[in-house]
Amino acid sequence: METSDKPAKIAFSEENERRFQRLLPHYPNREAAMIPALHLLLEQYGFVSREVMAYVAERLEVPLSKVLAVASFYTMLNMERVGRYHIQVCRTLSCALRGSEEILAHLEKRLGIKAGETTPDGKFTLSTVECLASCGTGPVLQINRDQYEESLTVEKIDAILDRLP
Ligand code: FES
Repeated sequence: METSDKPAKIAFSEENERRFQRLLPHYPNREAAMIPALHLLLEQYGFVSREVMAYVAERLEVPLSKVLAVASFYTMLNMERVGRYHIQVCRTLSCALRGSEEILAHLEKRLGIKAGETTPDGKFTLSTVECLASCGTGPVLQINRDQYEESLTVEKIDAILDRLP
């Protein structure tokens, strides 16, 4: 992931350009490849900035407004820089009934930040998200793109935070 604060020209890395070219034939048109293209750049840059969206619009030959609409709809396409660990707490009904508010409150207390904020050291970003598709094992949270923690309790939260380097 490129994390420098210096403005750099946005472009696929060589590897991501190869991946982009490989995925294009799998879609009926260039616009249909928007989400995978955004994911490649999210992985590369850490967040989907306006410059990233403009680059995708140019590469897919679609208006910037279409890319903005897609990027702002999907919460997993972070539009702002996030911490090394992006903790996303489900706030939808099943998890809410199973105690997600208490889980969120505990995380806010432990991390010293509110939902939507990042710790000063850049280690954690805390967010609330809609259903993570594991309603039967709530409360649920997701860390970064692929780590899910279910049936959460305050004690389990403490154990999870303690084991993150
Ligand atoms: S409501 Fe939380 S995972 Fe579905």
